[in-house]
Amino acid sequence: MKDAADQLDQLLTVGAMPTARPKLALRGVSRHFGAVQALAKVDLGIAEGEFVTLIGPSGCGKSTLFNIVAGLLEPDAGGEVLLDGVATSLLGKVAFMPQRDLLLPWRNVLDNAILAAEVEGRPKREARETARAMAADFGLKGFESHYPQQLSGGMRQRVALMRTFMFDRDLMLLDEPFGALDALTRAMMQRWLLDIWSRYRRTILFITHDIDEAIFLGDRVVVMSARPGSIKLERRIELPRPRDPALLTTPAFNAIKRELLDAVEEESLKTFAAGAA
Ligand SMILES: Nc1ncnc2c1ncn2[C@@H]1O[C@H](COP(=O)(O)OP(=O)(O)OP(=O)(O)O)[C@@H](O)[C@H]1O
Ligand SMILES: [Mg+2]
Repeated sequence: MKDAADQLDQLLTVGAMPTARPKLALRGVSRHFGAVQALAKVDLGIAEGEFVTLIGPSGCGKSTLFNIVAGLLEPDAGGEVLLDGVATSLLGKVAFMPQRDLLLPWRNVLDNAILAAEVEGRPKREARETARAMAADFGLKGFESHYPQQLSGGMRQRVALMRTFMFDRDLMLLDEPFGALDALTRAMMQRWLLDIWSRYRRTILFITHDIDEAIFLGDRVVVMSARPGSIKLERRIELPRPRDPALLTTPAFNAIKRELLDAVEEESLKTFAAGAA
């Protein structure tokens, strides 16, 4: 039996970055809002098909980074976002699910799911057929005609995720998609997302507050510093896939968690001391 340090060594490649040209790259991305510096020189690369999870204290700039990658916000001068090596605005080129699910209460499940496809100009009828075919995968079969207020929190999030998956892009951004869920539903949704991901194979940047979630889902966990947010630490997670919930209680998982917790706690304390979460 190997000791924990040996096991940990095998499981982690410290600070590993993808060797191939990344699908998505951020170079020197900063952003300020008036006097508030939200992000400071963020450098990050994500490989094709990689599942990257991003954690960091509240207010460190995660959603700001998300909005910049999605093309909804401009970085400050000097910062660049590159898709396949080309500096560009990613508006319309990535599928994203913002921090709040933003379902339209007057649209039923199918019509909420097709929203992005519709904005893109896809015929409504055809988009509805695609959504109908996907509903079972997203645990929504039989609920296609229900309205958001008739759904549970987990179902609403699955509708929002289905909409994101329907927006047929290689790169997907998810900002705390399970943030509002209780622990059990959340654990179910995590396993379900991994299953969907393995079938639909997208490159994912997933933001979360939850360290267990970040490790359980990610090929790599990226830890952000307190505001102004920058990349504090990157850890490759070589835990086997498909990932089983039993992983969460293994010594290897706990060793990774300890290390990441130390990094996040250090940054959260800074945020707390600054009185500005
Ligand atoms: N549109 C905006 N106008 C002014 N300030 C903003 C704006 N968006 C974000 N900020 C500020 O930028 C900082 C980072 O905010 P952001 O929402 O990116 O944090 P976060 O890491 O996503 O936090 P949380 O974990 O709570 O979601 C905060 O101080 C916030 O007040
Ligand atoms: Mg946020």
